[in-house]
Amino acid sequence: MKKPLMAGNWKMNKTIAESVSFVRMLKTAVSDVKDIEVLICPTFICVNAVYNEVKGSNINVGAQDLFWEEKGSFTGEVSAFMLKDAGCSYVLVGHSERRQHFGEVDKTVNKKVKAALLNDIVPIVCVGETLREREENTTFKVIEKQVKESLPDLSQEEASKLVIAYEPVWAIGTGKTATPQQAQEVHAFIRERYSQLYKDAADNVRILYGGSVKPDNISELMKQPDIDGGLVGGASLEVESFVKLVKHSKN
Ligand code: 13P
Repeated sequence: MKKPLMAGNWKMNKTIAESVSFVRMLKTAVSDVKDIEVLICPTFICVNAVYNEVKGSNINVGAQDLFWEEKGSFTGEVSAFMLKDAGCSYVLVGHSERRQHFGEVDKTVNKKVKAALLNDIVPIVCVGETLREREENTTFKVIEKQVKESLPDLSQEEASKLVIAYEPVWAIGTGKTATPQQAQEVHAFIRERYSQLYKDAADNVRILYGGSVKPDNISELMKQPDIDGGLVGGASLEVESFVKLVKHSKN
């Protein structure tokens, strides 16, 4: 049985003091939650402070990116090994903002996924089409390419550990959520394509939906059979709305 995951991607928001104060409140508010995994992904510089605050609680900490080498002359980069040391158990890989603004491509996503798994960090691999691609009816083609090219050459065990996030680019930060039906359609497609690559893992892999997830649309999204949680930007920045999202769980 897959445990749903509710993940907050804080993007480039919050100072160290703000991050720590947020998770201090969150820790109390979700201490009774058992049926859903809770994850916060702060900026690199806040990861360790957040980890120290939530250690021993039911909140997990993740980073928003990583570099695949372990150490060396790679100015500005942070390795999976270092993220593990700082307390991360998850890491986002291939977020559309990294693909759009920082030249991330499927090949580098794959390298990062492997580095994360090697260091016992669960990668959350993001895929999603742009508005133009949806309007041109190439959504499935784009998603298939991203899944196949960013996730090749894994063992069945590795393949069942990772998490996939479907984030339609047109729904990120725009207030336009994919309808539950639109999201379900793509989630089911991702699972089916993933089963062609990793037959045994596809049933167990968690597929999160991201893109304007809010307290008032989470229930309908979570009712869909292939939606196993959320990857949340804006609504994860306020304790109250994030707690509402966490407290929704599949019956
Ligand atoms: P919003 O929830 O702000 O649309 O952001 C989604 C996202 O990009 C999460 O990774």
